[in-house]
Formats: sequence, C-alpha cells, structure tokens
Amino acid sequence: MANKPNFSSTYPLLVSFLLSLFLLYSNSKFVVCSTDIKCTDTDRRALVVLREGLTDPSGRLSSWIGEDCCTWEGIKCHNQTGRVTKLDLRNPYHLIGAVDPPAYKRSCLGGKINPSLIRLEYLTSLDLSLNDFEGLEIPGFFCELKNLRYLNLSYASFAGEIPASLGNLSNLQYLDLYADSYSNTGPRELRSQSLEWLTPLSSLKYINLGFVKLDSIGDHWLQTFNMLPSLVHLRLHWCELKGLPLTLPSINFTSLSVLDLSENSFNSLIPPWLFNLTGLTELYLTWDFFSGSIPAEFANLKNLQVLDLSDNLNLEGQIPGLLGNLSKLQFLDLSANNFHGDIYGLFSGFSSNRNSKLESLDLSSNSLTGELPESLGLLKHLQHLDLSSNSFWGSIPSSIGSLSALRVLDLSYNTMNGTIPESLGQLSGLVDMNLMANSWKGILKETHFMNLRKLQHVRLTTEPTRSLAFSASHGWFPPFKLKSIQLENCMIGPLFPVWLQVQNELTSVVLKNVSISDTIPGKWFSQLSAQLTYLVLSQDQIRGELPRHLNYPYLNLIDLSYNNFEGPFPSWSTNATDVILDENSFSGPIPENIGALMPRLQKLYVSRNHLSGRIPSSMCHIEGLNIISLSNNKLSGELPNCWHRLMLWGIDISNNSLTGNIPNSFGFLPSLSVLLLSNNNLDGEIPSSLRNCTGLTSVDLEGNKISGSLPLWVQYMSSLFMLRLGSNLLSGSIPDQVCRLQNLHILDLSQNKISGPIPKCIGNLSALVHGEGSEVFQRLIREVTRGRDPEYSNVVANVNSIDLSGNNLTGEIPYEMTNLLALRILDLSHNHLSGAIPKSLTSVASLTRLNLSYNNLSGSIPFSPRFNDSSIYEGNPLLCGAPLPTKCPLPRPRK
Ligand SMILES: *[C@@H]1O[C@H](CO)[C@@H](O)[C@H](O)[C@H]1NC(C)=O
Ligand SMILES: *[C@@H]1O[C@H](CO)[C@@H](O)[C@H](O)[C@H]1NC(C)=O
Ligand SMILES: *[C@@H]1O[C@H](CO)[C@@H](O)[C@H](O)[C@H]1NC(C)=O
Ligand SMILES: *[C@@H]1O[C@H](CO)[C@@H](O)[C@H](O)[C@H]1NC(C)=O
Ligand SMILES: *[C@@H]1O[C@H](CO)[C@@H](O)[C@H](O)[C@H]1NC(C)=O
Ligand SMILES: *[C@@H]1O[C@H](CO)[C@@H](O)[C@H](O)[C@H]1NC(C)=O
Ligand SMILES: *[C@@H]1O[C@H](CO)[C@@H](O)[C@H](O)[C@H]1NC(C)=O
Ligand SMILES: *[C@@H]1O[C@H](CO)[C@@H](O)[C@H](O)[C@H]1NC(C)=O
Ligand SMILES: *[C@@H]1O[C@H](CO)[C@@H](O)[C@H](O)[C@H]1NC(C)=O
Repeated sequence: MANKPNFSSTYPLLVSFLLSLFLLYSNSKFVVCSTDIKCTDTDRRALVVLREGLTDPSGRLSSWIGEDCCTWEGIKCHNQTGRVTKLDLRNPYHLIGAVDPPAYKRSCLGGKINPSLIRLEYLTSLDLSLNDFEGLEIPGFFCELKNLRYLNLSYASFAGEIPASLGNLSNLQYLDLYADSYSNTGPRELRSQSLEWLTPLSSLKYINLGFVKLDSIGDHWLQTFNMLPSLVHLRLHWCELKGLPLTLPSINFTSLSVLDLSENSFNSLIPPWLFNLTGLTELYLTWDFFSGSIPAEFANLKNLQVLDLSDNLNLEGQIPGLLGNLSKLQFLDLSANNFHGDIYGLFSGFSSNRNSKLESLDLSSNSLTGELPESLGLLKHLQHLDLSSNSFWGSIPSSIGSLSALRVLDLSYNTMNGTIPESLGQLSGLVDMNLMANSWKGILKETHFMNLRKLQHVRLTTEPTRSLAFSASHGWFPPFKLKSIQLENCMIGPLFPVWLQVQNELTSVVLKNVSISDTIPGKWFSQLSAQLTYLVLSQDQIRGELPRHLNYPYLNLIDLSYNNFEGPFPSWSTNATDVILDENSFSGPIPENIGALMPRLQKLYVSRNHLSGRIPSSMCHIEGLNIISLSNNKLSGELPNCWHRLMLWGIDISNNSLTGNIPNSFGFLPSLSVLLLSNNNLDGEIPSSLRNCTGLTSVDLEGNKISGSLPLWVQYMSSLFMLRLGSNLLSGSIPDQVCRLQNLHILDLSQNKISGPIPKCIGNLSALVHGEGSEVFQRLIREVTRGRDPEYSNVVANVNSIDLSGNNLTGEIPYEMTNLLALRILDLSHNHLSGAIPKSLTSVASLTRLNLSYNNLSGSIPFSPRFNDSSIYEGNPLLCGAPLPTKCPLPRPRK
C-alpha cells in the first residue's frame, strides 16, 4: 500500500464525490440531508410531556431542549418524514459485571409514562430497558403504537398483569419483557394469567418472558407458542411453568432456533418433540429436574451449538456417544446430574466427528468414572473443560497438549491417581488450571510449565503423603505471572523457590505442607500484589521474623500456622478478618492496641505459641469478633471484664496462667457458645451473669480453682453438649436441674468437693439415652480449636460420658442410670457411694469403660464378661464375687 502512488488511493474518493453530486441534482428525493430534517411539532410536544412525567436523577435527558427533537438523546427520526421512529431510553450503565452500582442506579429513569407517547404514531422501536419504574404497570395504551416492531421493557421493574391489549401490536417482531431487575426496590412481579393475547402476534420472532410469573396459565401454554409461525427465539427462564407436555399434535414453530426453558421444575422426561425442532441452535433446560437418560434422538439436532442440561440432578445413565456427532455443538453443559459410567462413548463420538466445533464441555458434578480418553486431544477448539467432582482416575492423557485453544482446565475433586504429562506445558493459552483434590503422583519439571505464558491461576493439591514433587531447578524463571496459587501437599522446597519469589502479582496465595524449610523471603512477603486478599503459608518449617508492616489493604485472611515463625506477635495494622498464627514460636505480649490495629478481626487463632502478658482489653472493642483462640501460651493476669454486645461465640484460652474471676461481662455475649478456660488459675464462683448465655454448647473450666456450688440456672442452657468442671473446688450437691440438659453428652464434675446423692433423675439425660446429635456441637469445638488440639480430640472421643469421680457423693448408684442406653463411659470412683451395684448397669451395651472403685458399695458384683477387671471394683470392702478375690457368702438355703 505504502508504495502505491497517492493518486490511485484518492481516485475512488473523487469518483464517489462526483457521483453523489450527480445524484443530488438528479433526484430531488435525496436532496434532503439528514441534518435538515426537523422533527414535527406533534412529536416534540409529545416528548416534552413524556419527559415531564419521568424522573431522571442523572439528567441524561438534559439534551431534550430546543426545537429539533430528532437530535435529542435516544431519538431517531425517519430520514424523510422527520417523524420519530425510535425511542431508545435504555440505561447506558450495564450492571452486569459493572463496577459502579450507584452510577447505574442514578442513571435509571423512573416515574410515570405519559399517554402522550402514543402521539408518536410512527414509532417502530421502543426500548425502556434497564430502568427502574418501581412496580409501575405496563401501560395499556402501548397497544395504540400500531407500528411498533421492537418493544424492550426488560430489567425495568414493571409489575402487575401484562396488558392483553399488547396483542393488538400486530407488527411486533421483538418482545422482551424479561422481568429480573437490578434495582431491588421492593418485591414485585410481572405476571400473565393467560397467554391468549400472544396469538395474533404472528410476526413475532423473538420473545423473552424470563422471570414473568406464568404459574396460572394452564397446561396449554406451549400450544400458544406453537401457533407463532415466525418464532425464532423463545426464552422462558424461571416462569414457574408447570406441565411440559410429552407429546404435541403437530410442530408449527419449526423455525425455532433458541429455546430456553430453564429453571421451571418440570419434573418429567425430556419430551420427544424437542427432537423435531431440527433448527435448534441453543437449548437451555437447566434446573428443570428432568429425569431418565438423554434420548439418542438428540443426534437429530444437527444445528445445535449450545446444549445446557445442567443441574437437573436426575438425569442419569451413560452419556450417549451420539452427542459427539453434533458437529455444530460449541457448548455442552451436562453438569450437576447423575450420569455415571465412563466417557469413552462420548469421546469416540467426538473423535469420529472431525469437524467438532466444541468450545466448552462441562461434565462436572456427576458420577462419571474411568480414565480420561486419549481422544480428548481431538477437541481442537476446546477452550473450557470442566470435569470436576466426578470419579475419574489415572493420568491426564498426554494428548492434552494438542488442545491449543484451552483456557480453563478443571479436573478438581476427582480420584486422579496418576501423573500430569509434560505436554501440559504446551498449552500456551491456559489461564486457569485447577487440579486440586486428587491423588497426583510423580514429578513436575520445568517442561510442564514451559509455554504457560498466560497462566494466572493454579490450584494443585494432592494427598498429604506428598507423592508429587517439583523438580524445577532452584533458580528457574517461569514464563507466567500468577494471580493466584494454591499448592497443598506437593514438595516444592526445601528452599523457597525463585520461581515463586518472582511472582509479584499474586492476590491469593495458599501454600500448605509444601516441604519448605527456609526463612521467609522478606522482600517477596512485603511486595505481593497490593490487591492481596488471601495469604496462607502453613504446615511447613518456615522461620524468621515477620516484617513490621503489612501494606495489603484488601487482605482478608492471613494464615501462617504450623511453622517456625518467631519474634513478637506481629503488630500489623490490617483490615484482615482472619489472623491465624497457631503453632509457631511467637513470644511476648499481644499488642495492647490490637483493637485499633485489627479493627475488622473476626477470628484470631494464636494457640501453641509462647505469648505472655495479659489479654488486652482493647479486644472488647473489636465489633466483629467471633472467635478468640489462644490456648497453650503463657498468658497471665485477669481476663478483661469489658465485654459488651459482640457476636463473639468461641473462646479458647485453656492451658495458660490466667488468674482472677471469670468475667461477669461474658453475660453480655448473647452468642457465646464455646467457652474453654481449662487449666488456668481462675478462682471465684461461676458468675451468675452466664445465665444470659443460653446458647452455650460447650463449657470447660477444668483444672482451675472455681468454688461455690453448681448453679441451678444451668437448666436454661438447653444446648449444652459438654459441661466439664473437673479438678476445681466446687461443693454442694448435684442439683436436679442438671437432669434437664437434653443435649448433654459429656458431664465431668470429677475431683471436686461435691457431696450428697447422685440425683435419680439422671436417667432423664435424653442425649445419653439416645446418643445422637453430637456432630454439630463437635464441629463448633473443632472450629474454635481448629481441630488440632489433641486434648479436645480426646474429649470428643469421650462423647457420651459421665465422670463424677473424686468427690464426696453418698447414697446408692441410682437404678435409673441403667436407662442411659448410649452411655459409653461412667466413672464414679473415689466417692462414698453405698448399696448394691444395679444389676443391669453392666449390661448397658454401649458402656465401654466403667470405674466404681473406692466407694462403699456392697453385695455381689453383677456377672459381666466385659467388665471383668478387678480394678473396676477394688477399694469397696463390702463387694464380693468375681472379678474380686473375695467370695460371696452362699445364699442361705430357704427353710
Ligand atoms: C433513509 O432511510 C432508508 C431506510 O432506513 C434508507 O434506505 C435510505 O438510504 C435513507 N436515505 C438517506 C438519504 O439517508
Ligand atoms: C432488551 O434489553 C436488554 C437490556 O438492555 C438487552 O440485553 C436485550 O438484548 C434486549 N432485547 C432485545 C430483543 O434486543
Ligand atoms: C386491543 O385489544 C383489545 C383486546 O385485547 C380489544 O378489546 C381492543 O379493542 C383493542 N384495541 C384496539 C385499539 O385495537
Ligand atoms: C399448526 O399448523 C396447522 C397447519 O398450518 C394448523 O392446522 C394447526 O392448527 C396448527 N397447530 C397449532 C397447534 O397451532
Ligand atoms: C417428529 O418427527 C418424527 C419423524 O422424525 C415424526 O414421526 C413425528 O410425528 C414428529 N412429531 C411431531 C410432534 O411432529
Ligand atoms: C488408580 O485408581 C484406580 C481405580 O480406583 C485403580 O484401579 C488403579 O489401580 C489405581 N492406580 C494406581 C497407580 O494407583
Ligand atoms: C482498611 O480499609 C479502609 C477502607 O475501608 C482503608 O481506608 C484503610 O486504609 C484500610 N486499612 C489498612 C490497614 O489497610
Ligand atoms: C443479663 O440479662 C438480664 C435480663 O435480660 C439483664 O438485665 C442483664 O443486664 C444481662 N447481662 C448481664 C451481664 O447480666
Ligand atoms: C463428705 O460429706 C459428709 C456429709 O455428707 C461430711 O460429713 C464430710 O465432711 C464430707 N467429707 C469431705 C472430705 O468433704
């Protein structure tokens, strides 16, 4: 081009100029230039009145001034008559994926639609979409706009019954009433009782009634659409449609190309008439709960480009190989169904179809199994492959390297137990690679990543045995800049690899158990992306001190647990909600001003470190605080007593050196559920304010110096699952009120000074009668202790137990205890219990551990092969019979 003389490029321009001059003079019809047409007075006045009725917060109709309405925003006039033909008031802010919802909202028109609109009698196109008419009914007078061919009222918050008079718009070709809205200014719905009004609209090509409530239109709704001979595009997403007829007398809407019936819960088989719609290019049947297998007749739909049968949950059987024959299919989504078997048939279908255009294949969340076929590599156009949440096993076929268009690969949550081929490194378009939750084996080399220039997201996790290793040389420089990385149980250490240190655009980092034993690269740690939200470096031997500042304003979670970090508790000023530092060597005090440093804190885990000093009272001011977990440190002093209405529900400060009373302000924590303060030096009584914490599920105050008697109000703790008060100075007797704890699975009052009898009502502890329902409580404890505390794993192993040993209990073992059919552990040793052992006690089938030693029990020991260890009964001088050596006196023969 550049070499050609100038003349040849200007020549055609010259010709067309002369030609238009010629036309200008030869045909008067063309003389009127578009700038010369003026709008008519009628139209201008109609628009002015229309505008007066509308609300327009952003002033986007401010150009609606002056004489020539044809130049106004959103108006198009006929180029000869000057009459308004098009009114496009669509909100220019598209909220879908938009960043600025307030701007969208401001830009919405609303208010009233003045009937002056109908004076625009030549209007062919009316678009009011993406506005907010706040539940206004669709005006019936729209039916007077006889020339209308295009009507778009979607996303505009119209509500009420659709006026049947719209059926008068006999020229209408496009009708979009999609009734979802982005403005959410109150509940409202658009509905139609009957679709009869559609019948005269014989020119309709496109109709979208998504989210319009059609639950009362009866079973013949499909016939109404079937009578529209020009229909190409039919969308009825989420219309509460009921019956989908399995048969149709005749198929009239044969020009149908796009059919969307998704989210209507038809609960039937896939109707056979669908396969006569051979012109279909897109078919959406998501969330309709179809059942049965996919009919082979799908192969008739030769034009299909999109087939979405996802989320029916009920579709089952093998996936028919015939789908592979659909040579125009671009998008196939069969996810979240119940398909089983392997996918060899489907892939041999695709492989015999050399023209396959498939771009997106989603088979996730089914029960598919087998190995991935080598023929995978034939799907040359594939961009998106999701096989996650199935039971595929084996290796990734090396043919994957031929999928040169692949951008997203998801094989997560399978049972892949083989290797990852080096050919993966050829996928130069790959952006997102999710291989997590499998059992990968083998070695990853530099070649595995050689050409992955576009790679942004990597998730790769395998079994804790770390049978997958990276062998890239320490200094390897990768071709990618990652945005997120998640590696678990793969070996990338022992040094902190350079390929990782050069990643400085990371917004999410998860490295768990990756065999790094190195100091933290301070520069990397403080120079990740400013957008960093998630930072997890856990279960390794990373050591060193942490930087003093953390400049990540968007950080949500930081987890450095189970490493060898040392130095003071990091005094970072951060908005993070989760700070997880347990099992390290942090020492010194928790910063006094933690409340100001970490104002958004929700969960603080610093168990198993060497923290000392007091718990700062500024913690009481962290409004969102949920969990404080500080067990196994050297914290001392009194607990702050400044608690007020917080959502705090889990406190674990066990195994420290706390002194003083249990703060009575705990009574102001209405959500308190798990309170673990065992093994400290707390004294005083259990504060009566705790009666306000009726949601308590687990209380452990074991190993303190708590005195006083058991509070009677404990009966109101109806969710109490665990009550451990052992090794304290409690006195008084066990109140009957304890028996009302219907969810109590663990009761430990051992090693106190409790006296009096065991209440007979103890047989009413219904959780110990039925044994079920402890899972949810155990989960709460696990969330507070992070499931790592061996002591609490033990406690949980001791579920369904009563330990009253080491007290001053008197009286008999109540016979009612034998009602506790789920009891596993019973320890009543070291008391002053007397009388006989109830006969059926040793026959409670669930009982695995029993200790009755060192009491004053008498009489013969009930025979039990399971409890035949003499230590169970020793120290009761008046007991006799096996397994004790003392023989019982022979029963005196009756006279
Ligand atoms: C006027 O509009 C018609 C149809 O829209 C078009 O075919 C014609 O070329 C236009 N004339 C001028 C002068 O723009
Ligand atoms: C109607 O408007 C919406 C939102 O502006 C748009 O997405 C949709 O494609 C339009 N419908 C038709 C048939 O043009
Ligand atoms: C519009 O349709 C309704 C029935 O749907 C009919 O009663 C009315 O006469 C029609 N109006 C006009 C102007 O055609
Ligand atoms: C389909 O078309 C045939 C012939 O064109 C007509 O007789 C029949 O009534 C139509 N059926 C429906 C359901 O509209
Ligand atoms: C669908 O097509 C088959 C032949 O391919 C025909 O036998 C059947 O009658 C058709 N069904 C309808 C409802 O038109
Ligand atoms: C992988 O898993 C499959 C299916 O469970 C099993 O048959 C196969 O032996 C396993 N292969 C390896 C290498 O463990
Ligand atoms: C916390 O977030 C606010 C904005 O919500 C921001 O102004 C502030 O800088 C953030 N603080 C830190 C320490 O990142
Ligand atoms: C407990 O509840 C009572 C009654 O609702 C209330 O008066 C008291 O202030 C609450 N808090 C404490 C700490 O007792
Ligand atoms: C045990 O209780 C009895 C009365 O029930 C009392 O006389 C005795 O002192 C108590 N012994 C201890 C060690 O508390």
